[in-house]
Amino acid sequence: MAVTAKPTLDADKLRADFPIFDQSFHGKPLAFLDSAASSQKPRQMLEAMTRFYETSYANVHRGVYQLAERATEALEAAREKSCRLINAPEAREVIFTRNATESLNLVAYAWGLTNLGPGDVVLVTELEHHSNFVPWQYIAGRTGASFRMLPLDAGGELRLDELEAVVGRGTAKVVATNLVSNSLGTVNDVARLAAWAHERGAIMVCDAAQAVPHKRVDVLALGCDFLAFSGHKLCGPSGIGVLWGRAELLEAMEPFLLGGHMIKKVRLEETTWGDLPHKFEAGTAPMAEAVGLGAAIDYLGEIGFEAIEQHEHELVEYALGRFSELPSVTLYGPPADRRAGIVSFNVDGVHPHDVAQILDLEGVAIRAGHHCCQPLMTKLGVAATNRASFYLYTVPEEIDRLVEGVRKAKKLLG
Ligand code: ALA
Repeated sequence: MAVTAKPTLDADKLRADFPIFDQSFHGKPLAFLDSAASSQKPRQMLEAMTRFYETSYANVHRGVYQLAERATEALEAAREKSCRLINAPEAREVIFTRNATESLNLVAYAWGLTNLGPGDVVLVTELEHHSNFVPWQYIAGRTGASFRMLPLDAGGELRLDELEAVVGRGTAKVVATNLVSNSLGTVNDVARLAAWAHERGAIMVCDAAQAVPHKRVDVLALGCDFLAFSGHKLCGPSGIGVLWGRAELLEAMEPFLLGGHMIKKVRLEETTWGDLPHKFEAGTAPMAEAVGLGAAIDYLGEIGFEAIEQHEHELVEYALGRFSELPSVTLYGPPADRRAGIVSFNVDGVHPHDVAQILDLEGVAIRAGHHCCQPLMTKLGVAATNRASFYLYTVPEEIDRLVEGVRKAKKLLG
């Protein structure tokens, strides 16, 4: 009989890889519960970047000398790793950008300006981060397309039953959604949305910034056309993001940023564009950042994405259970089995920023605010929430400290 043991990880042991935890804040050990904003960095990734700068650094795709070739190989190795990470068919479909926001802007500008017009519908969701909302709203406005929003139900999940009604008689051209909500942790059925989009002849654009660091993501299984994520949320450095897109779409698109490296031939009369991925990578690449991203992918791969997802699932179940002991706390979002390691909440009568400040004095770091999701805040009827978010280095004792800090905030300010 097959043994189906749940994958596990040892968060206490993994924490030793992260130098940030060697410090204390306000005299307390750091409980870093803000990994949805950005993750902490393991030594293995930091050392890979330092090694690259010390031994292999030169500009890429330009020099013919050995050092430049070594740097180019390092950049392209990171592209291969990013490609395998999301099960993309070809490495040339993987574009390095500055972050997930730039990846989504690239699609909105380079695909949207050419392909959208009056009568077309761009559909986003009420759950979107501004990075997959505002660019589409803007490009829809520029092209005369109609910009619409798929609503949420009271539990923070997409009303897929409303798809037909929202699009109506318009021609759906773009469906844009996140795979995991940065605010509520909701895991969205992107495969179903992609199937619906394709039936209607629309493209499916997936913001996977909160998914790729935390679970196995497969662009073919999702059936999307474009997928964006950033390095800094997956134990990699800031300053690098990824856009994956289907080659035939990328090839047909106009470039986004113009200048060096992205060209084939430049003449006074005309400039022609380079092949993929170079057409979308103007200027000097984020070279050391790519090496760091590659090292982070290796690091997470060794731990295992199934183990990371399972660990965060246990943490979120634990956190929701602990918070249910507090009658003054309002929780937002779906049940644990349909959410990632993110818990948004409010404390009756206490502003989220005050809660976050009291928690800071306890060494507990969370985010308070609108989380770049103002349409969602409008839906929830609040200006802001508190948000605790977990990762592979989060331990249950930190959730206990969070809950005790919230109790304290209520007692002091409620
Ligand atoms: N998008 C990041 C967050 O959710 C910054 O906090």
